Amino acid sequence: MNKPKILVARAIFPEVIDRLAVHFEVESNQADDLWSRPEFFAHLQGKQGVFTTGDQRIDAELLAACPDLKICANMAVGYNNFDLDAMTAAGVLATNAPNVLTETTADLGFALLMAAARRVAESEHFLRAGKWTRWSYDMFAGSDVYGSTLGIIGMGRIGQGIARRGALGFDMKVIYHNRSQLDAVTEAQCKARLVSKKELLQTADHVVLVVPYSAASHHTIGAAELALMKPTATLVNIARGGIVDDAALAKALKEGRIGAAGLDVFEGEPKVHPDLLTVPNVVLTPHIGSATRPTRLAMSNLAADNLIGFLVNGKPLTPLNPAVLA
Ligand code: DGY
Repeated sequence: MNKPKILVARAIFPEVIDRLAVHFEVESNQADDLWSRPEFFAHLQGKQGVFTTGDQRIDAELLAACPDLKICANMAVGYNNFDLDAMTAAGVLATNAPNVLTETTADLGFALLMAAARRVAESEHFLRAGKWTRWSYDMFAGSDVYGSTLGIIGMGRIGQGIARRGALGFDMKVIYHNRSQLDAVTEAQCKARLVSKKELLQTADHVVLVVPYSAASHHTIGAAELALMKPTATLVNIARGGIVDDAALAKALKEGRIGAAGLDVFEGEPKVHPDLLTVPNVVLTPHIGSATRPTRLAMSNLAADNLIGFLVNGKPLTPLNPAVLA
């Protein structure tokens, strides 16, 4: 029997390609070429499945042009590259890669919080530039983390991971804002209290954003929200570019209206707003939230398991639009 054909859109671990090749006729992009949309469409012809990494937009136009496609498996927990309604309407299954990256991404969120609050990157650049000639009492005096108030916007799995780190490791008071209140057991585990967005912004010493991107969450933090924050507060975005108005943030940082920021994601990345590159009190990382080798391998294997589960066994592990399976 002929094996189903799949496309792997970006370079991934060779061992995952080998696993896929047991079940599929695989076309892979191990050269990691950045295809234009027409090139991507061309590579997708005749493919029943595609392994995506979060960069490839799957929408009605693509689905109409690639009628053989049955499943798109994202190697990411976020799936704002998928038009889920269009996929469901076309009967194409969408899957993501949740759970396996929760703790790794929460670690990076906490790392950015610490680095921003304690001015780690800024002081390191100062030292490397040979500017450290003497001690002074206020040199790189930042904000306390231990015992402070942590505000989390978006209290899904990663948000909860950050809350546990803050409450259990750093004795922080944790407040959160979310679409819905967590159940009492989870709230107790995270030692977290639900508050309004306004109260969170006004009272938190450190604000971490972990909300999924959608039209509704676009610019969750803009000039008005930044104005509510404490002048010493730090802001961390490990969610998605577009959740923060980066131009407004750069201005607030430049004018000292908030203390510092740590950003792993950017509007229009890999481009970064030029003003963010020139303000000192921001730590910038290139979307590395889930970037440890074991976690990226687990994410790749989960995307592969979804392709195998669906196209070979009829049972994907983490479907996003299970209506397609009915
Ligand atoms: C995700 O999984 O959505 C991450 O942002 C990718 O690293």
